[in-house]
Amino acid sequence: MKKILIYISPERYSSIFDLILGYDGGADVVVPYSDTSDEEIMDVVYSCVFTRGSSGRKNTAIFIGGPDVNKGEEFMNAILAVFKELGPDYRVSVAADPHGAHTTSSSCVVKIKDSVGSLKGLNATILAGTGPVGQSISILLAKEGCKVRITSRKIEKARKVCGIIKNKYDVDVKPFEARDDKSIEKAVSDADIVVSTGPEKIMLLPKKIWSRYPRIKVFADVNAVPPYGIEGVEGSDDRKKTDGRIIIGGLSIGSLKIKVHHRVVEKLFEEKGQVLDLEKIYGIAESIK
Ligand SMILES: NC(=O)c1ccc[n+]([C@@H]2O[C@H](COP(=O)([O-])OP(=O)(O)OC[C@H]3O[C@@H](n4cnc5c(N)ncnc54)[C@H](OP(=O)(O)O)[C@@H]3O)[C@@H](O)[C@H]2O)c1
Repeated sequence: MKKILIYISPERYSSIFDLILGYDGGADVVVPYSDTSDEEIMDVVYSCVFTRGSSGRKNTAIFIGGPDVNKGEEFMNAILAVFKELGPDYRVSVAADPHGAHTTSSSCVVKIKDSVGSLKGLNATILAGTGPVGQSISILLAKEGCKVRITSRKIEKARKVCGIIKNKYDVDVKPFEARDDKSIEKAVSDADIVVSTGPEKIMLLPKKIWSRYPRIKVFADVNAVPPYGIEGVEGSDDRKKTDGRIIIGGLSIGSLKIKVHHRVVEKLFEEKGQVLDLEKIYGIAESIK
């Protein structure tokens, strides 16, 4: 039987990036089902589970993409609700990685953890952490025992994101407003770990600021397009040691992310009924490094 990956997403066009990685992860066919609405989820699930028989179902899987982590989680919950109605045999495997946030955040946190050993009790500042990648990194670091602070240019936005995280994952992440050099300096001044998760080509943390704070032991920057988010970080830096600090760049995070994504797709077809969410994907990243 051919391994068929159904790529669902609320985007107008499916992510070419995710479609390519679907094939490279081992799917024989990747079906882009873009512009997916809530009402279509039930039909998507029925089409997946009623077509191939009990033992054949492991050859069909669903991958949830799209720009919005919260929408991705809604799709996942809707799919699981349909599975529940149908009973244990009538399910396929499903993974959620909206905007690549779960594979990217998992790869970033695995590299940070590998650099410092235990993360328990360390202060982590996530600069521009209100986007999908920043949120997922915050959740994973908080679950590892870090005291996490998310910055935003607007405190209300940071508060809202921290509230959503608390609701969904029951971890505490503190909101912090940082909109200029002075407030960014305040946000990183007591950090052990600084992660930059702003958009491409935007430098958020100048070297003249961070060099004043020897306490910061790890810099990680997911931005893979220069200028990078933290001045002095190179994209290819992979746990590079400089003056007692460890530097992790966006390209090195990206290269692990691709491996994690491949493994997620491969795993989907190993058995039916698997649910690969943020925490499961983090486990996969930990097993690869
Ligand atoms: N290395 C990899 O493998 C990999 C994979 C996927 C993504 N990425 C990269 O990860 C980064 C984060 O992605 P994302 O989608 O989560 O980010 P995003 O949503 O585009 O941006 C994150 C946050 O940045 C802030 N921001 C936006 N414009 C800004 C500006 N001009 N100046 C300062 N802050 C600004 C916003 O926060 P506020 O409005 O709250 O201030 C926004 O919520 C991107 O650079 C992306 O390219 C890397």
